[in-house]
Amino acid sequence: MRKLAAGNWKMNGLAAALTEVQALIAAHPAPACDMLLCPPATLIAQMAGTTKGSALHIGGQDCHINAAGAHTGDIAAQMLSDAGASHVILGHSERRADHGETDALVLAKTSAAWAAGLIAVVCIGETEAQRNDGSTLDVIGAQLAGSVPAAATPQNLVIAYEPVWAIGTGRTPTLAEIAEVHAFLRARLTDRFAAAAADMRLLYGGSVKPSNATGIFALPHVDGALVGGASLKAADFGAIVAALSAA
Ligand code: PGA
Repeated sequence: MRKLAAGNWKMNGLAAALTEVQALIAAHPAPACDMLLCPPATLIAQMAGTTKGSALHIGGQDCHINAAGAHTGDIAAQMLSDAGASHVILGHSERRADHGETDALVLAKTSAAWAAGLIAVVCIGETEAQRNDGSTLDVIGAQLAGSVPAAATPQNLVIAYEPVWAIGTGRTPTLAEIAEVHAFLRARLTDRFAAAAADMRLLYGGSVKPSNATGIFALPHVDGALVGGASLKAADFGAIVAALSAA
């Protein structure tokens, strides 16, 4: 399986930030892992143009469940694809918190993404209160079951395990805690998708940076990372790409 270093720019980045992307692809013309950046929707077309022919894939950060229609401010999966995206992040905890996205909605968005030919990066993760009360595996097991449609394959699905309390905080679970969750996710996916589950990529996300990437990437069932803050700078994201390529 090819591992995946994915960057989520969130609501950051103007056209001037494309210089970072040029620096990234110049430094990593042929990485040994897949490389994905998900900029704000406003930058997808420009970024796709700038990076055409490079090893960098481009993704969106959300899509609507419908293919078109009267949904002011929303964006359809096919529009992302049309702009040059091959992937879309769905069910990020910030979408779940800021926009009340439920597992059922994320499931419907994932099907919409597939209908447009996009690879879905479906995010799940527990809050700090859930971690503390011992319900982490129950919570993420339910999110996984509720957010991933039956038609999932290794080609159309990536799962990102992102503890809510680790996102943007500089805090991470212990390596043992990350390994426990990833082994659990692989087992649950195997129950549901049999042998195909072995090739479904499981990313860890939440305060991944160059200094902790190597340790995280050495864990079993960690097939890459979803990186927020550290994906904004070519030097930091490039170091994470290098760590994953070496893992
Ligand atoms: P972070 O964000 O790397 O800034 O913690 C990760 C994410 O939200 O995908």
